[in-house]
Amino acid sequence: MHVVRSSRNDGGRVGESVLKPGRATNGQKASDSANRQAALFADAGLERPKNSLLFGGVSLTEIARRAGTPVYVYNAEVIRRQYQRLDLALAAVPHHICFAVKANSTLAVLRVFRDLGAGADIVSGGELQRVLAAGFPAEQIVFSGVGKSPAELEAALRAGVGHIHLESADELARLGALAERRGKAVAVGIRVNPDVTADTHPFIATGQGGIKFGVPVDQVLDLARAVHAHSRLTLDSLAMHIGSQILDTSPYLEGVTKLVGLVQELRAAGIDTLKHLDVGGGLGIRYKDEVPLDPERFVAAVLPLAQETGLSLVMEPGRFLVGNAGLLLTTVLSRKHSGGKELVLVDAGMNDLVRPSHYMAWHEIVELEAKGREEMTVDVVGPVCETGDFLGRDRVLPGVVADERLAVLGAGAYGFVMASSYNSRARPAEVLVDGGRWAVVRPRERVEDLYATETAEPKWER
Ligand code: LLP
Repeated sequence: MHVVRSSRNDGGRVGESVLKPGRATNGQKASDSANRQAALFADAGLERPKNSLLFGGVSLTEIARRAGTPVYVYNAEVIRRQYQRLDLALAAVPHHICFAVKANSTLAVLRVFRDLGAGADIVSGGELQRVLAAGFPAEQIVFSGVGKSPAELEAALRAGVGHIHLESADELARLGALAERRGKAVAVGIRVNPDVTADTHPFIATGQGGIKFGVPVDQVLDLARAVHAHSRLTLDSLAMHIGSQILDTSPYLEGVTKLVGLVQELRAAGIDTLKHLDVGGGLGIRYKDEVPLDPERFVAAVLPLAQETGLSLVMEPGRFLVGNAGLLLTTVLSRKHSGGKELVLVDAGMNDLVRPSHYMAWHEIVELEAKGREEMTVDVVGPVCETGDFLGRDRVLPGVVADERLAVLGAGAYGFVMASSYNSRARPAEVLVDGGRWAVVRPRERVEDLYATETAEPKWER
């Protein structure tokens, strides 16, 4: 993730210069930003043949006009390109790519993955219902999830979920009892916490000790023995997921080394049922000027080691598959000068896309229709009643005016799925673009939907 370090102008103090035009007129900076944008456009399948922005060949202005804003738009061709690239990179070994549904759980997006033959990595009963609704075969589902409730485990057994990844001895006891009661055989994995630290935002690093994820390496053998001894459970995989938006191969290598060591330990202890090594997701993408962790680089680093085990490889990428394939379109509501800041107030806020305010994440922002106006440094802020409601700070943008539209890039992963209805704002519509066509795949939520099940007149219990 590209973390925006706090800016000198954050306080917006009175007396600072009102506009800072010309920052990007410096030749070097202008060409840096042009190169950056060219790379981001290629990642997303965006083009600007004239003034208008096209996404998968479709006019974004047309989509915004007809579907309204804010609206999320996804490009199915980019999703397929990403999947095929990873699939090809892994071709040398038996493998299975399970899309991490938490990144984007919209049914039409899930259907693209199902049609590609992908499996699904889920973390809740809700995601289970969604992937079944999208038509995924139950045996291609991996149920990760750090805390699975009895009801969620029951639903997974009922559906015949292919793999359930255990997180603790308590979960084993609960699952074991359920499997016995239902007389069902269940394939089980153990999610290992390999105690490696990935260089990413601390909120999305999941592989170090002392956090809630996974089973510590020194407790895996005991848990594996208990699974092995159970009449209905078969231990068929070891798994890890060390974090998200990782740009470097070394934490993977460290993690896989520990997994491979555990495979050997388990085999030496007579546990001979392992079939899969699941190395999780986490491949980092370009949001600004990062060097993405390409599948080819990842595979070159990790595969030789994983291959030693003779196990098939499972991956659970989310962001890599959908992150660059999605945009959020928004309309400028107004402009303000305040305290030395130039503010562009738009109709999408932190409730629609929380990543900038929650992780200080960078999402590139571009105008839908290029007007050739002079560039200036602005904050792009939302309509939510929080000062932390922004989509981008200190951005060099052409001077947009009210009613013009902007596209926020890199919004395909952890965008809509993290949207909320804060300020009683209905969540945005979603559109899928494919083969030069487009369709609304989720209409804009209605405010009535937000309170449909509420009552203003409590029926008191005594
Ligand atoms: N597998 C497991 C068990 C996970 O917990 C995750 C992500 C993934 C796979 C997929 O990771 P990916 O390939 O997408 O990096 N909301 C944050 C990201 C949270 C990721 C949580 N787990 C964000 O907006 O950056």
